[in-house]
Amino acid sequence: MAQVSDLGIDLGTSNVLIYQKGKGIVLRQPAVVAIERNTKKVLAVGNEAYRMIGRTPGNILAIRPLRQGVVNDFELTNTMLRNFMSIVVGKRLFSRPRVVLSVPTGVNESEKSNIVSILFDAGAKRTQLLDRPIAAAMGVGMDFQKPYGCMVVDMGAGVTDIAVLASGQVIEAASVCYGGDYFDDAIIRYLRKKHNLLIGERTAEEIKINLGSAVPTISDVTMEVTGRNLLSGLPKTQTITSMEVYEAVKDAVADLIEAIQGVIERTPPQLASDIFEDGIVLTGGAASLSGLAEAIYGALHIPCGVADDPQTSVVLGCGRALEDLNAYKSVLTDSRRGFMR
Ligand SMILES: Nc1ncnc2c1ncn2[C@@H]1O[C@H](COP(=O)(O)OP(=O)(O)OP(=O)(O)O)[C@@H](O)[C@H]1O
Ligand SMILES: [Mg+2]
Repeated sequence: MAQVSDLGIDLGTSNVLIYQKGKGIVLRQPAVVAIERNTKKVLAVGNEAYRMIGRTPGNILAIRPLRQGVVNDFELTNTMLRNFMSIVVGKRLFSRPRVVLSVPTGVNESEKSNIVSILFDAGAKRTQLLDRPIAAAMGVGMDFQKPYGCMVVDMGAGVTDIAVLASGQVIEAASVCYGGDYFDDAIIRYLRKKHNLLIGERTAEEIKINLGSAVPTISDVTMEVTGRNLLSGLPKTQTITSMEVYEAVKDAVADLIEAIQGVIERTPPQLASDIFEDGIVLTGGAASLSGLAEAIYGALHIPCGVADDPQTSVVLGCGRALEDLNAYKSVLTDSRRGFMR
């Protein structure tokens, strides 16, 4: 019987990426499921469901099945994963693929069991878990096996995993909510307060991607933003500048920097001094916020760089583990299947 290629999966709050052994990244889609409000019938998954957000009639809901890196809706996570896995390996699973899945460091045992069960139901034979910061470090080619401190900050939409690694292990870590969604919320609050303008999450994300900056900017880039005037209730268009977006996100960026500082402070001094020398690597989509590495350097005086195509680092790390499961068995863990809600 033909062997189904094993899979590495980055199951994110906003995006799912799948790596297939021997092939590389074969799927990259938004973690969204569109359902009919009344019947709860699933209408679309991934790219197609994402296109429905904000453009859908009132009876269609576009739902992200994960929240802050953990499963929020079991059935929809299962539906989404089953759909994505069938795109990759086909609908008729003669032999089930093995899976390496990255999980945030803050995830507890019952959350791990739940996700392993969901993957089993969705068609996986055996799921091995890989700590997200280790996956990110492997994805960018960091040598975390040596007795030397290195630091990675993986910033997704819902979770930011901050970790110091050395001798093949996580030495110190924090899993916080200061990711892309946190920046989007800050922009929503700012525009409501300053311009009485109510905007949706999708618009806030567009503003962040187009104008966002973690450092004060002299750029005069602007954007016309349409939302609802909170005073009149009518549609309103407002011109927003990148300096305003900096003002909107600066406290959120400060929260992130404080969390990074906290992890460094708890790190043994010898390893911390390695980090001051070698710097911090940022991965995850939210690391693309303009000026973020500069803001971290400005506050902590530690060199900081963003990975190439940072959204792919974690899944590439899962893929690397998959390509040589024996070499990485010390960082892969199994979790018992079984739902513990
Ligand atoms: N150019 C950009 N500037 C700022 N933020 C960006 C940019 N591109 C993507 N992002 C943000 O990156 C986030 C998505 O990143 P990613 O796909 O790594 O998250 P995820 O892995 O799904 O989430 P998590 O790891 O938290 O579960 C979103 O918040 C998105 O707005
Ligand atoms: Mg992620």
